[in-house]
Amino acid sequence: MRAFSRLLLFIIIFIYFPVQTGAQEYAKNGMVVAPEPIASQVGIEILKKDGNAIDAAVAVGFALAVTYPTAGNLGGGGFMVIHLADGTDVSLDFRERAPLNAFKEMYLDEDGSFNSDLSLSGWTASGVPGTVDGLVKLHNRYGKLPFNELIQPAIDLAAKGFNLPFWQAESFNSNRDEFFKNDAAKLIFTKETGEFKIGDLFIQTDLAKTLKLIQQNGREGFYSGRVAELMVLQSQKNGGYFTKEDFENYESVFREPVRGNYRGFEIVSMPPPSSGGICLVQSLNILENFNFSKEEWGSSDYIHHLIEALKYVYADRSKHIGDPDYYNVPTDYLISKEYANEISQKIGEHAVRSSEISPSQILIDESEETTHYSVVDRWGNAVSATVTLNSSYGNKIVVDGAGFLMNNEMDDFSAKPGTPNQFGLIGSEANSIAPGKRMLSSITPVIIKKNDEIFLILGSPGGSKIITSVLQVVLNVIDFKMNLQTAVNLPRIHHQWLPDSLYSEEFGLPEDVKTELIQKGHFIGSETVLGRIQAIMYNNKKNIYVGASDPRGFGKAIGY
Ligand code: GLY
Repeated sequence: MRAFSRLLLFIIIFIYFPVQTGAQEYAKNGMVVAPEPIASQVGIEILKKDGNAIDAAVAVGFALAVTYPTAGNLGGGGFMVIHLADGTDVSLDFRERAPLNAFKEMYLDEDGSFNSDLSLSGWTASGVPGTVDGLVKLHNRYGKLPFNELIQPAIDLAAKGFNLPFWQAESFNSNRDEFFKNDAAKLIFTKETGEFKIGDLFIQTDLAKTLKLIQQNGREGFYSGRVAELMVLQSQKNGGYFTKEDFENYESVFREPVRGNYRGFEIVSMPPPSSGGICLVQSLNILENFNFSKEEWGSSDYIHHLIEALKYVYADRSKHIGDPDYYNVPTDYLISKEYANEISQKIGEHAVRSSEISPSQILIDESEETTHYSVVDRWGNAVSATVTLNSSYGNKIVVDGAGFLMNNEMDDFSAKPGTPNQFGLIGSEANSIAPGKRMLSSITPVIIKKNDEIFLILGSPGGSKIITSVLQVVLNVIDFKMNLQTAVNLPRIHHQWLPDSLYSEEFGLPEDVKTELIQKGHFIGSETVLGRIQAIMYNNKKNIYVGASDPRGFGKAIGY
């Protein structure tokens, strides 16, 4: 019976998914894997012009603000891990910051209860955007081609338009009621005459003008002058907190990446204010204490060990990780092998209740709409980039006259530390709100190296599920020796300590595995989509790049 369900699962995965998405892409000179095909093509054209991976990443970042407005952005932020051919690894934090007028209790009602409407909707929900500063700074430091050439494709796509794919038309249509609440959003993302259809030409004139200002003036085209004035005015008019000082003071930051090693591979990922790198390395360190054969993939024993490790990781995340400029994050301790060994010894045959692991810690509920892209060039430079507006289309407010959507990233703060939020979860001091502070993230861009050479570049959207999605693809490749597309396609699970409940994907848990997990003491929760990975692998024996875009999304790997 067990063998039969496993067989059924493999039939579903290997027959259904490849039919849906096609095979992985192979190329010698470079690869771009982005969440939608036009942006991937923009990146490849830059590489073909002899631009490096950094140039391509900048061009893709701006293109996604036009072609993938659900998460690609000018009004949001993100994180990147960069590897240079000379061996340098660095990360770039262009996370949004709390406005200088923000304060700890800003989302509490008079009776002290948390009001999530204020942290999720309207201008009160927006942090100071970081994407433009980040992309400009990245190019200034490591770019090769002139900046104006990198932003030009985005300007053209906005000014001349592009034909909507089916999924994008449907996505606009399904958010119609929300876009109707904001006049500027309504004008762009809804159609007077009904619904968007596949093939409709989608033009964004105001966005093209904003991109042109950035082309002409660099970061100042966004953080001072007309665009900044529009954001400040519209925020102030609608109860928001922005002042012009917020924009003058915003700075993205190059940070030393978090590093770990796992079974001989070097992990390079994002440090705080994202929890991604620490949680990924901590999970791998714990799991290094266990071994699973190829045949055990998907077994209840394997999933049980994953879940138990994740409970400890997410418990620590909740208590110890926040903006390092405001809070002393114990990174070295959390990613040490000794600490991981201690945790691994607590993992037995039966599930430990989450409440027994850490009774007084948090979880922050995070929205799922973020997006990732991976780039590599022929010199061996690589970029792993994740950008976000937080919710899908952020707060769904377009800056009137500037044509771009604003984020609602303030909801990633812990609005009321120590007290249950609307989901019955409690938050921690490490991630409490303060002026200028960056909100905690789960974004996990990662570059994995073997003998100082790039091996794997990947990342994912998915809020708190980003870490577990990335982790399982890494395990699939390193432990189970899967080819990249299979590693990306296979169903994933998710556990985040609280709630004490196992998320899985449709067709992801055969009935016998589910029964065995319940016998081990696990609570089976709901089915949902877990992440959308965009990944590149380097095969050094064949000297070839392999690209894989996740069938859960609409992206594409393009190489040359
Ligand atoms: N807003 C999702 C994250 O940054 O983790």
